[in-house]
Amino acid sequence: MNLFDILKKRRSIRHFSDIPVEWGKIVQILEAGSLAPSSGNVQNWRFIIVTDKNVKQELADACLEQEWMTEAPIFIIVLSDNVMIEKLYSRRGKEFYAVQNCAAAIENMLLMTEQLGLGACWVGAFEEEAVKRILDIPQFASVQAILPIGYPAEEPPEPMHYSLETTCYFGKYGNKIKDIDAVLWNFNIVGNTIKITKNALNRIKKHVNKRIKTLKQTKE
Ligand SMILES: Cc1cc2nc3c(=O)[nH]c(=O)nc-3n(C[C@H](O)[C@H](O)[C@H](O)COP(=O)(O)O)c2cc1C
Repeated sequence: MNLFDILKKRRSIRHFSDIPVEWGKIVQILEAGSLAPSSGNVQNWRFIIVTDKNVKQELADACLEQEWMTEAPIFIIVLSDNVMIEKLYSRRGKEFYAVQNCAAAIENMLLMTEQLGLGACWVGAFEEEAVKRILDIPQFASVQAILPIGYPAEEPPEPMHYSLETTCYFGKYGNKIKDIDAVLWNFNIVGNTIKITKNALNRIKKHVNKRIKTLKQTKE
């Protein structure tokens, strides 16, 4: 599967089979998360792997009683260790970069999950203090997401996606693009024409300079 296939196929999975997940696959998912970009390469993400049935139940309760979560054999809890990021970037680090870095890691993990034939869901609705208490998470860390992971036992339909014409603007905010394919096609033509013209002018310039040099030499 190429990247586009994975992006298109990925769905939030909320029903899981009881087939156990191979440890090697969990490690690959964790590695995918660790390869995400992060502000100043601070890599503030931390991952807790949970397989214990009772702990999973407690966590599902802390996620506003999302009972479906307990079907998943494995949970990965994504945290941000905020010590270094706050030292480096103050409030913006803790409130903005910390969240974005972890979100990049989470998306990498979801894509790897799909690639490995597994399913997962990004769970963001939780009582943070309850999750911290259950998992002994220190106050300097913040909980970013819980990912229940397992072999999928459902094939959810594709959700609605806005068209690019709705979500993209050209040049400045609000400047809607009527037909994005046509615009990009024209944009490429204009871009390529400029490139070809520049190359041709450079070649002519080189040729003229060479001729001038030869003429000067013959005169001498
Ligand atoms: C930040 C964030 C928080 C989310 N929290 C929850 C959640 O608590 N429970 C849940 O069932 N799905 C949650 N989702 C999953 C979304 O509902 C899902 O991604 C969206 O409906 C699009 O469906 P898809 O993932 O299948 O494309 C969350 C997704 C994101 C990005």
